Amino acid sequence: MKKVIVTGGAGFIGSHTCVELAAAGYEPIIVDDLRNSQERAVHGIARIIGRMPRWHLVDCTDEAAMERVFAQEGHVHGVMHFAAHKSVPGSVDDPVEYYRNNIRSMVVVVRTMQRHEVRRIVFSSSCTVYGEPAVLPVSEAQPDRNATSPYGFTKVACEQLLRDVSASPAGRELRSVLLRYFNPVGAHPSAHIGELPLGVPNNLVPFVTQAAAGLRPAVTVFGDDYGTPDGSCIRDYIHVVDLARAHVAALDWMEPRPAPLCEVFNIGTGVGHSVLEVLRTFTEATGVDVPFMVGPRRKGDVPVVYADTRKSSAVLGWTSGLTLRDALRDAWRWQCSLKEEVVQ
Ligand code: NAD
Ligand code: WQD
Repeated sequence: MKKVIVTGGAGFIGSHTCVELAAAGYEPIIVDDLRNSQERAVHGIARIIGRMPRWHLVDCTDEAAMERVFAQEGHVHGVMHFAAHKSVPGSVDDPVEYYRNNIRSMVVVVRTMQRHEVRRIVFSSSCTVYGEPAVLPVSEAQPDRNATSPYGFTKVACEQLLRDVSASPAGRELRSVLLRYFNPVGAHPSAHIGELPLGVPNNLVPFVTQAAAGLRPAVTVFGDDYGTPDGSCIRDYIHVVDLARAHVAALDWMEPRPAPLCEVFNIGTGVGHSVLEVLRTFTEATGVDVPFMVGPRRKGDVPVVYADTRKSSAVLGWTSGLTLRDALRDAWRWQCSLKEEVVQ
């Protein structure tokens, strides 16, 4: 089986990607120091794929430790690099830590790949690189250095690092795919893995499921006075299982193509939903009411973003198949599986 190193593989998106890699016949090798995840995710993956995945409790910014991982694993087909901090407000509070972890982990991963002649990488980028797009839906051709937070700029920088490496003599044989995720939500339908936000969730869907479970107070809708049909913000919510499959599609797609290769794709559904629609769809999908109230706008929120998915569908041959309703049903199943154990 072809080994794929999955940094951040115990996290929300990484864990689902390990499952899809295994389903496609790859062997995922997790590298995660559990700074924002728990070992239960690795056991959850094991329950779904029927065996314990190989995994290393390692900080990806530790070059000597990463060297040992690659040396121990022998021939590695490719890397999927998820390991990063991801909170927008967290990055405003402590930008140095975001630049340190997100950029250093990328530098160490790429350097270690070079030493071991590993020549395929899929990188977790984000629609945050577009900032507030001038044209909707937002395509890959639009300006992509318009991040509005230190977190966003770490994605801009890591994307550029991969482009620069591809253009360098050492990158002649490198194939890289940069996936710009829109809003990943949901959980595996088995409810063995899902999103495990530590502390109060920043993101809408985990807050909704925790509020519906009675673990949080009412959801605050951040503004209903935007220029959208119902006044609340619009986003492109992509089911995490579809997103995970996009990673496998990217790895398969790059295989026969000539190197160097550095290609970027939007990964979304192409459809926008408002915050109020999310609340309504959650109740339709689960039969559970979510307490909510309308509050002021959240600083930094872009009113509307959704993806132009024509490139990922035409070139990568990937499209999303699951709906917002599927995602909210699966997120709720996952929340129910956590029962009372929470998350201070
Ligand atoms: P997550 O926090 O659930 O997963 C990240 C994982 O990386 C965690 O398990 C964490 O412990 C690990 N990690 C972080 N730094 C590490 C380090 N130095 N060494 C080892 N492990 C480390 O986040 P996620 O939602 O799964 O996001 C995965 C990636 O996707 C991130 O790069 C994130 O920026 C990107 N992304 C996420 C979203 C989103 O909304 N969730 C959207 C766009 C892009
Ligand atoms: C979604 C919508 C809020 C919480 C973030 C990052 C982005 C990317 C995805 C990593 C917005 C509204 C939210 C709440 C609300 N991550 N909301 N009440 O801000 O679109 O994107 O995650 O790359 O970079 O910025 O996601 O889930 O926080 O918000 O009304 O309690 O829900 O205003 O319109 P966002 P989100």
